[in-house]
Formats: sequence, structure tokens, C-alpha cells
Amino acid sequence: MTDVSSPTITRHGLFQIMQAYKRTSLLRTGVELGVFNRLATGPSGAAEVADALGLDPRGTRILLNALAAIHLVECDGSCYWLAPGADRLLAAGGAEFVGDMVRVFASDWEWDALKNLGEAVRRGGTVQAEHAETPEYEYWEDFAAHVPVVAEPTANVLTDILEPWATPRPELKVLDVACGHGVYGFSVARRFARAHVTSLDWENVLAVAASHAERFGVAARTDSIAGDMFEVPLGGPYDLALVTNVLHHFSEERATALLTRVASVVEPGGRIGLVGFTTDDALPGDDPAPHLFSVLMLAWTFEGEVHSAECYRRMLAASGFGEPVSRTVPGLPYRVLVAERVSR
Ligand SMILES: C[S@@+](CC[C@H](N)C(=O)[O-])C[C@H]1O[C@@H](n2cnc3c(N)ncnc32)[C@H](O)[C@@H]1O
Repeated sequence: MTDVSSPTITRHGLFQIMQAYKRTSLLRTGVELGVFNRLATGPSGAAEVADALGLDPRGTRILLNALAAIHLVECDGSCYWLAPGADRLLAAGGAEFVGDMVRVFASDWEWDALKNLGEAVRRGGTVQAEHAETPEYEYWEDFAAHVPVVAEPTANVLTDILEPWATPRPELKVLDVACGHGVYGFSVARRFARAHVTSLDWENVLAVAASHAERFGVAARTDSIAGDMFEVPLGGPYDLALVTNVLHHFSEERATALLTRVASVVEPGGRIGLVGFTTDDALPGDDPAPHLFSVLMLAWTFEGEVHSAECYRRMLAASGFGEPVSRTVPGLPYRVLVAERVSR
């Protein structure tokens, strides 16, 4: 057995884990009720905040004190203001606003799935009536609306890798499979002026992606395919296919089947770009993020989990792609892989 020493468990530590959801609820409620936005206008008393937001004064006082207890706001006993950094991160319009990510990370959809984790462990997959594989699942609309804030830095790593190959090409036809917000494809379109992007997802999600195409200024060079990526005709051929943050919804076998389908519409010499969490050589205690994410996949898909970088290589090779270029993303737990379509 490898010698791994963890910090000794304490009662305090356990009680904190047992109650971590209370902090989640406080942050989510602060965002949803507009408390951080209100405090961004200046220090205020609880009654003033309640009045401005149409809330109950007692409820607002208790909420503000609890937000101060977890250091998201500060107070002097009567007045409340934003803690350092909260103006940038939690007030809508802040330079690095991430508050709306509560609608994903702290959503009822994820929470409801995790409440049934024990049953998912017993059965080896989701027991939810609605889950990540449900066609036109409403959760993916919120995901598409709010996740660009973390997708954009990762998309920049992808476009950097593609640059030497993509820049001299006279045209660049791109298929973005399970595009969600579409930011990976739209980032390619923004970087490479000759790119045309076909975004594929369920109809309800494509409507959200379209708004990001406008924001990126690339809408005129996009079109879309609505439907099930395992069934719908893919069109093509394409020079580049993107399959980002979706292979972990499936077993290695099913993910390979999807990649093989995608490979059939990528020109030989073309490229595929993958993005995902990966498990690598590190033990779970040294690299927790992919293992915690796998729990969500267990509770919310039939066979999904985070795959290792080695598994991604196997899937690429089995579906007709070469050895990938592989990069991690600074400050984020993602890996970007780009591989060439080889003729078989
Ligand atoms: C985790 S999101 C990934 C979105 C984006 N590619 C990214 O990297 O953030 C998964 C996306 O896959 C889509 N999806 C899942 N199963 C699908 C299927 N069978 N056909 C088409 N889209 C699907 C969902 O609607 C969702 O937008």
C-alpha cells in the first residue's frame, strides 16, 4: 500500500462537512435575491436592504448576519457592505462576475441528483427521472447561459493549440458537438476569420448558444443542427470537430462510438479538439476535482465518469485520430486535447 498520510479527522471538520450545504444555500440566496447587487451600491442597514429588495426585514437581517458570518459581506453591527473581492465576483456587472454560476453548481438539479447518491451507488448509475441524458433537459439551458465565464479561458488554450494549423487554411469548417453555450466553436470563429461553425445540441440549448454567437460577433458565420448527437445527420465534411465536456457522460465504449461517428465527418488531416476533466497519476486526495465531478456523473448519468488522459488517448486512437497534443488549463481543472484525423 502506498504511504499516504492525511490530516487527522476532527469532530469540527466532520461537522463542517455535514453543514457545508448551509453555506451553499446562503451564497445562492444572496445572489438570487440581489443582496450582493444592492450592497454594491454602498453600505446599508438591513432595513434599507429589505426595503430596496422587497424582502422581510427580519429575514434580511438574519441572512445578512449569516453572510457576514461566512465573510461574504462585512458588518459593523448595524451596517453591511461587500467583503473584499465580492464587488468584482458577486455583484452583477463586476469585472469577474461569477455569481450566476450558482444556477449551475448550486442548482436544484444537481442537488436533487446528489440527494439520491446512495441509490446511485447501489445501482451504479442515475436513478433520477430527469438527468443529464434527458433530451432537451432544462438544466442545460442554465448551463449554456452561465458557464461561458469558465469556458472562455479554456477555449483560449484550445485556439492557441490550433493556431499554427488553422491560420494558413483557406477555409475552416467546424462542427461543435454538444456545443452547449457554443463558446468553444465561437472562440474558434472569433480567432480565425475564415472559420464557419456548425453548432449541434438540443433545440432548446441552441437558442441560448445563438445569443453567445451574437455576443462574440460571429453569428453570420454559424449555423446549427438540432437533435441527438448519436442519431442526427452530422452534415460535413468538416476540417475541425469539437467535443468538449461531454464524453464523461458516457462509458469509454459509448464515448468511443460517438467519436467514431464524429470521425466519419472529419476530413483526413483535419483535427478534433476535446476538453474534459481527466484523472491522472495523482491520488484522489492530491487532485480532488475530477473525483468529486465523477460523483455528479454517477448520480446523474447511466455510465458516465471522468476518464483518465490515457483513456482519452485510447478513445482517440480507436476512433481514427492520432496521438493528441495535450495541455492543462492554468487555474482550472480541465485538459485540452487536439488530435489529427488519420486515414485508416
Ligand atoms: C456539459 S455540457 C457541454 C457543453 C459545452 N460543449 C462545454 O464544453 O461546456 C453537455 C451538453 O451536451 C448536450 N447533450 C447531451 N446529450 C446530448 C445528445 N444526445 N445530443 C445532443 N446534445 C446532447 C447537452 O444539451 C449539453 O448542452
